[in-house]
Amino acid sequence: MRDAIVGDDVFGEDPTVLELQESVAEILGKEAALFVPTGTMGNQIALRSHCGPGDEVLVDRSSHIFNYESGAAGALAGVQLHPIGGSGDFPTAAQFASAIRHGYYWETPTRLLCLENTLNKEGGRILPQNLVADIASVAADRGLRLHLDGARLWNASVATGQPPATLAEPFDSVNVCLSKGLGAPIGSLIAGSRDFIQTAHRFRKMYGGGMRQVGVVAAAGLYAVRHNLERLAEDHDNARILAEGLEPIKGIDATPERAETNIVMFDVPQGRALELVDAFGAEGVRVVPFGPSTIRATTHKDVSRDEIQRAVSSIQSVMTRLA
Ligand SMILES: Cc1ncc(COP(=O)(O)O)c(C=O)c1O
Repeated sequence: MRDAIVGDDVFGEDPTVLELQESVAEILGKEAALFVPTGTMGNQIALRSHCGPGDEVLVDRSSHIFNYESGAAGALAGVQLHPIGGSGDFPTAAQFASAIRHGYYWETPTRLLCLENTLNKEGGRILPQNLVADIASVAADRGLRLHLDGARLWNASVATGQPPATLAEPFDSVNVCLSKGLGAPIGSLIAGSRDFIQTAHRFRKMYGGGMRQVGVVAAAGLYAVRHNLERLAEDHDNARILAEGLEPIKGIDATPERAETNIVMFDVPQGRALELVDAFGAEGVRVVPFGPSTIRATTHKDVSRDEIQRAVSSIQSVMTRLA
């Protein structure tokens, strides 16, 4: 970051940003990519670039776009989100197909279909590629665009051994984050065709995401994609060890098989998630409530195997004390 060569990226003159965009476009097998400050902005620029106000977007009911982007799709793009499926599993191609409208003028035109890999709210579950293929063929038959929220696509890639470009291939646009398990302080990219990125460029400016000498930050992103991808496997091992450590604790329901990547979702007695998050936090174990009785823990490069063991012991002692 200290040595980054910078320029004004609003004029497309920051060589470090250009290098990052080219590298990530290549990794994702797309023509071009655009650096954006956050994953939320990446998703929202993609929605706005694919759709206009009054259009409908089909999303997984569990998705980040539907649940955790502060209503941005309606507020900024003016699109209507149509949630498909229920909690617990990915929606099927048939469920998406039956939600696509028929084109009568009194209906909301369905323009875009969004998927998320890995699926955060369902504990970092990996989207099966055969399901993606089925859904992509429904989208293609019905003339819909396809967007992937791949904030943690890197984790899906490392866990399955499939290159990111293979996982991204069926999609018109992909959003990836540098700031989660990859360890960069800031930044996401959206990738797609050159035309899509040209449109997205304009909306990035409109949404306030055009930055100036931002190569200092892009340099950290370049470091992250070059050095921190393969090691995500350690985070996945740590997540599994954490889930296995939590499983026998009285009052906790953690299913280790659900910890497919770097997220461990576990249940606690009804209505006690907030209180327990505070109690775990007081012991130095920082986790997030994901419902009245559900808690999310994530593993990442700054959490060691020893710290995972310590987290299990701390959670065990809190549960014993508060039982
Ligand atoms: C699946 C998914 N998409 C998008 C985002 C948004 O990323 P950001 O926090 O950078 O806006 C997140 C953040 O947790 C996420 O989990």
